[in-house]
Amino acid sequence: MSGYNRPMARFEARFGSRELFPDLEPRAYLNHAAMSPWSLAVREAMRACMDDYGRRGLGAFFSWHEQRKRLKDKLATLVGGAPDDLAFVSSTTEGLVKIALCFPWERGDRVVVFDGEFPTNVTPWQRAAELYELEIVMLSASEFRVDEERALRRFSEALERGVRLVAVSTIEFQTGFRMPVLELSLRCHAAGAEICVDAIQGLGAVPMDVVVEGIDYLVCGSHKWMMAIDGIAFVYAAADKAAALRPYVAGWLSHESPVAFLLEGPGNLRYDRPIRTGIDFLESGSFSTVGCAALEASLDLLLQLSPEAIFDHVNGYLDMLEPKLVQLGFESLRSAKREQRSGILSLAPPTDVDARALQKAIAEAGIFCTAPDGYLRFSPHWPNALDEIEHVVASVEASITAASTGAR
Ligand SMILES: Cc1ncc(COP(=O)(O)O)c(C=O)c1O
Repeated sequence: MSGYNRPMARFEARFGSRELFPDLEPRAYLNHAAMSPWSLAVREAMRACMDDYGRRGLGAFFSWHEQRKRLKDKLATLVGGAPDDLAFVSSTTEGLVKIALCFPWERGDRVVVFDGEFPTNVTPWQRAAELYELEIVMLSASEFRVDEERALRRFSEALERGVRLVAVSTIEFQTGFRMPVLELSLRCHAAGAEICVDAIQGLGAVPMDVVVEGIDYLVCGSHKWMMAIDGIAFVYAAADKAAALRPYVAGWLSHESPVAFLLEGPGNLRYDRPIRTGIDFLESGSFSTVGCAALEASLDLLLQLSPEAIFDHVNGYLDMLEPKLVQLGFESLRSAKREQRSGILSLAPPTDVDARALQKAIAEAGIFCTAPDGYLRFSPHWPNALDEIEHVVASVEASITAASTGAR
């Protein structure tokens, strides 16, 4: 029996249970905003794929090709839109680079990006600006957290000057702030601009819907909140948006009937077959079958639990952790408004405490978080249990003195 057809173990995700992570070493793994550990479900799916290719080589490819279609159906359930509006790429970066290169720019077009964002969502637009002679307009992402009304005013003022595209992350990687994507998209569309969203810091733990939120393009990698592996990501674009892209990044697999010359006998090797007009023209060459297997396995678990319930679980965890750390002298960046929250709790440490030193010290005690640019960032997911919190707080308290710079 092929690995693909072999009945796979049915894995069950349970909130607060590490059953599917039996060898996860940290006592509290709070790093899903950086990278998820790989669950037994993900590992088993990859193993089945590897075994099948090991046994059948190319013979396995065709079965796993079917799996990609099934995966797109499931991704569309998570993110909205139609399965045909999705394309696989290798990373969030690759997806954004491809959109930036293929967008139907005209010289002088303005692109809005946000200061404070992860560079993934700035660099491709800067490069496109150089190539196509565009103007980059940089607005402040943190202003939305501090004063959303003022930030929206500035946003509208920028749109009034004429903007072609806005590139924004649903969740700011450093602060965990959820940007008002629906409000931004409404204003964009009213002003004739389009909106491209980097969803990697939310999708999987924050409910989203491309149609409801009016998103024109969305890109998301799999190794954070989607809880799969690096090397596989996807792009969403509705049919009309995809058709308007210029296929400058097309490759051999972007053509109509791209494999006819390999499967259908002589006379089929041609270079004039049209490039597909759907967004899957971005699937320009071979890509990771193992990645797709991993992503389906993790997605099955996310869908079992539902993004809404995951959001509640994660925010229940953060609701308990946040006040305890504030009591220790930390300043929380987490919004008081539910609609501005994500799975991330970031805190500025007390003035004399170095976040990086503190992060290292608590890692010794089995508490894994990160310290991007001076903040302590905690990012739990569905396997994190509330009874970890006491230990997290005790470890932080015990390490504060060691991480002190003495600069009070
Ligand atoms: C908001 C955001 N976008 C993109 C990335 C990087 O994504 P990729 O490595 O898939 O390009 C990160 C973090 O690694 C991130 O926080």
